[in-house]
Amino acid sequence: MLIKKEDDTEQFGFFWPGKKEAKHIAAAPSAGTLVPVHGDGVDEETSRNIYIEGDNLEVLKLLNETYTGKIKMIYIDPPYNTGNDYVYSDKFGKFHFMWCSMMYPRLYLARKLLNENGVIFISIDDNELAHLRKICDEIFGEENFVAIVPRIAKRTSDKGTHFKPTKDYLVCFAKNLPMLSPFGIAKIRDEKKYDMIDKDGRRYKKSGASLYQPSLDSRPNQRYYIQAPDGSLIIPPGNVFPDKKEDTAKVKPLSNADKVWRWSADTYLKQKHLLIFTKGSSQNPLLDENGKQSKWNIYPKVFFDDDAAAKLHPEDVIYDFPNSQAAKELKSLGIPFDFAKPSGLIKYLISLIDDKEMTVLDFFCGSATTAHAVMKQNVQDSGNRRFIMVQIPEICKEGSEAAQSGYKNICEIGKERIRRAGKKIREEIGSLAKGIDTGFKVFRFVPSQ
Ligand SMILES: C[S@@+](CC[C@H](N)C(=O)[O-])C[C@H]1O[C@@H](n2cnc3c(N)ncnc32)[C@H](O)[C@@H]1O
Repeated sequence: MLIKKEDDTEQFGFFWPGKKEAKHIAAAPSAGTLVPVHGDGVDEETSRNIYIEGDNLEVLKLLNETYTGKIKMIYIDPPYNTGNDYVYSDKFGKFHFMWCSMMYPRLYLARKLLNENGVIFISIDDNELAHLRKICDEIFGEENFVAIVPRIAKRTSDKGTHFKPTKDYLVCFAKNLPMLSPFGIAKIRDEKKYDMIDKDGRRYKKSGASLYQPSLDSRPNQRYYIQAPDGSLIIPPGNVFPDKKEDTAKVKPLSNADKVWRWSADTYLKQKHLLIFTKGSSQNPLLDENGKQSKWNIYPKVFFDDDAAAKLHPEDVIYDFPNSQAAKELKSLGIPFDFAKPSGLIKYLISLIDDKEMTVLDFFCGSATTAHAVMKQNVQDSGNRRFIMVQIPEICKEGSEAAQSGYKNICEIGKERIRRAGKKIREEIGSLAKGIDTGFKVFRFVPSQ
């Protein structure tokens, strides 16, 4: 948006009534302290996990006294401003500027907490996506934008006026993009399929793709003879042949009809031992040194340990973690909370980051799904990640399932979720649980007198 300033100069940026005030609020010191609440947590003496009750604006300011630059991952799921009156005031309605003023100082303080290779994921829907992107561009810098990833949230209810809504988004920004390690997901490999063992004891299989691929462009260093186990020479189809009839003798292709190997001659020399020679089929396009059909085909070996360690980039759409999973898991834990994200979603985000020791912060933590996700991922890969949860003690609505179940406020729900999730994990993994921190300490924000 272009606005004219009083002195008639023009400025480009995102402005809303109250932005100046929001900046002041971010800069003002906290009006209170955090005090420990004993007896509310689990393994309080030893646990490094923290649950904080209080308005996240104040809490973020206080966290900045100790944790500035120390947090690797933040996940938040702020009120979407949908106009629905659920939990904390998620009814800024058309007053989008109030939502912006609420988010601005919190994101500003959150950025300060991130370390240089840190990252933030923010769940949001169409109501505030555009505003959130602009606020993040300003606070984190456009150059640190990582992605906006749609997530399929539900496929069932036929609501909406023109389209049936099915998705929300994860807005992802880095503190400093060049410092953020690439995201990776390990592909599940079936070790049994690697059916050969080399002399070092490594399991391998034949690559699905032969060393000759007809689609390759003809390059100078890639048309050469390879010697087969029976002493014959092998070369891709074509019209020109090396002068010398010996292993690695090269010829420069004259056109794309002179086909080439996938490996250059130099690579071949270094990696000969990684090739498997098989009997060629009757359709075999490869030729011998006499220009006749070769008896051989050639495939690279593919090693299980290489494949198992290789990571793929995650897709920039998420299909696998709809909200229905959250409803199911909270039901099985007996926790009454309606607008939770599935722990699988946050666990998946955690798994993308190559750091098993990191601190994960969620300062709109609701039912503490992020705490659950951290514990689950630690179980999965023997990680040592810790969590910091922040939640305002918002009173449960009278008559709601939560109030009827005896929960006074959302903090009580979140803490009980962590207790139950931790207990379930300890029961499931038995003695292995010793190494996993399923406890937490509790702090409360107390305003200064
Ligand atoms: C959409 S919910 C988050 C749900 C959470 N992701 C889960 O899976 O349970 C947003 C939460 O932020 C809390 N909240 C809103 N404003 C807050 C504030 N200023 N400080 C701390 N928590 C706040 C709300 O009470 C609500 O529990």
